[in-house]
Amino acid sequence: MARRRLVVGNWKMNLTIPEGESLVEALIPVVSQLRHIDIVLCPSYPLLHPLAVLLRGKGIYLGAQDVFWEDRGAFTGQVSVPMLVDVGCTFCIVGHSERRGRFGANSFPPEILSYFGENEHTINAKLRRLLYHQVTPILCVGETLEERSRGQTEEVLLHQLMGALKDVDSSEVSSIVVAYEPVWSIGTGENCDPEEACRIAVWIRGLMEKTFSSDVAQEIRILYGGSVTGRNAGSYFKFSDIDGALVGGASLSAEDFKRILFSA
Ligand code: PGA
Repeated sequence: MARRRLVVGNWKMNLTIPEGESLVEALIPVVSQLRHIDIVLCPSYPLLHPLAVLLRGKGIYLGAQDVFWEDRGAFTGQVSVPMLVDVGCTFCIVGHSERRGRFGANSFPPEILSYFGENEHTINAKLRRLLYHQVTPILCVGETLEERSRGQTEEVLLHQLMGALKDVDSSEVSSIVVAYEPVWSIGTGENCDPEEACRIAVWIRGLMEKTFSSDVAQEIRILYGGSVTGRNAGSYFKFSDIDGALVGGASLSAEDFKRILFSA
């Protein structure tokens, strides 16, 4: 089964409703030329509903940037998977390094950093809840510069992937999207060398084969993310093992994002 290319725009904590709407309006006219790929936009929570209205029937999927693992209850400030389904989300990012407190560009003092306390257990709980409600998880994994320079990249990825996928049935794993996002490349302008990103994608696929099955390894989509722009996107997409991109900063510009979509 051929894997469809997938490009995800992660708007992070940017854009008001009118700004988000005009960005979407600039993208909609080109979607008819991009039927061969999947496009997902992940705005912040307040923009989900207005964008769902605009995107209805337009061929762009809606995703959230995070979620909570319980369906309802006394969890102030949290948003559940059924709420995401209700608003029209079919994708959701989980385990983004910025939720794990691992920042490529920003920095915070240690006493504040623990606020971003995502770990393997919370990611696993979120991912399983998403699968239960048939929302596609976009699972982010990646090493810091320090970990890479100590030669621990694969060890870190193994820990993150196996922790996130614990007790997930192999029949469900192939529907998950994995985004390899080295922390040092996120928001820094230092994109990972495309050959190295491909090597990691192949390594992840090998791990999926060993742990689950060759069907899972062939079907699972593996994206690269980290300072992807209209200028460098094509150098990733020339590798068949890289199934697309998770794009932060460049997804805030209609022109740049369109260039990425057209090179996928
Ligand atoms: P960036 O972010 O493209 O701004 O580096 C990517 C991401 O964090 O998903």
